[in-house]
Amino acid sequence: MDSATVSAAPIWTRQHLLGLQELSAAEITQILDQAAEFKRLHAQGETKLTPLKGVTVGNLFFEPSTRTKTSFSLAAKRLSADTVDFTSAGSSLSKGETFIDTAKNIEAMGVPLMVVRHSTSGAPHLLAKSLKASVINAGDGTHEHPTQGLLDIMTIREHRGSIAGLTVALVGDILHSRVARSNIWGLTKLGARVIVCGPATLMPPDIERLGVEVNYRLDDVLAEADCVNLLRIQAERQRSAFFPSIYEYAHFYAMNGARVRRAKPDVLILAPGPINRGVELTPDVADGDRSVILDQVSNGLFIRMACLHLCWQAQQRLQAGGHAG
Ligand code: CP
Repeated sequence: MDSATVSAAPIWTRQHLLGLQELSAAEITQILDQAAEFKRLHAQGETKLTPLKGVTVGNLFFEPSTRTKTSFSLAAKRLSADTVDFTSAGSSLSKGETFIDTAKNIEAMGVPLMVVRHSTSGAPHLLAKSLKASVINAGDGTHEHPTQGLLDIMTIREHRGSIAGLTVALVGDILHSRVARSNIWGLTKLGARVIVCGPATLMPPDIERLGVEVNYRLDDVLAEADCVNLLRIQAERQRSAFFPSIYEYAHFYAMNGARVRRAKPDVLILAPGPINRGVELTPDVADGDRSVILDQVSNGLFIRMACLHLCWQAQQRLQAGGHAG
């Protein structure tokens, strides 16, 4: 299959994918549709496509990752790209080389597509301004994790048919969660009602400005939610104690069997992972019949294929003198 056969109107114009905040509903839908098309082709046995043949994708991870890094690498290979992996540990960062110099050196080796995860919010945006390469945000600090938001939305859309009119509860550490922000932008643009729920100490001030409702009691939200997305407690980003103990957090906010029984019978249970079993949700719920957690992981591959493909096409059009954002 060549790239012309996997691109549908409207034409994607963005060389970079930095967040869902700046995308329109039509752009988000185009990524979801492209990912669904890749998934359909994969189910038909077309596991090796060729739109990125001869292209090298750099996976630059300055923070740990299992799902995102592995699935971007696999997505690139499924599109026939070569891949190069960079991790901070063992790199020349320890000798004082800067973040931008690191990326520029990798670009100079002929890497025109960069997937970047960094603990600093805005780091991928800085690279997008400093490089000719396309930059895809694989999670920046507490800001956004756009491909996670997209794969969450793809999973909900697959199970429910559409997003508009659904009520989605995002539960947990909203303050530090880039996944929460990408979900909020994506879901509200597509017409969902979003409720954010967690301890007051983990709720950003003025979060209602993003178009969400706030509720501090999970037990009050359960009956209304079509989907509950259990966000991880981001211990690595917390500089002080935001709740008395993990036990108390789990008492009020863990999704357990009793809470699932009080939720809608067809509620979808999501979690971006990695999950802390017994903290954000109990093992019986994580592995239970309402859980779509591994569907999320599977869909991540197709979302990342779509993002790599669309950004590469836009970069090529830009270089050919066309318009790309
Ligand atoms: N959900 C997520 O981003 O997982 P990783 O940190 O393992 O990539």
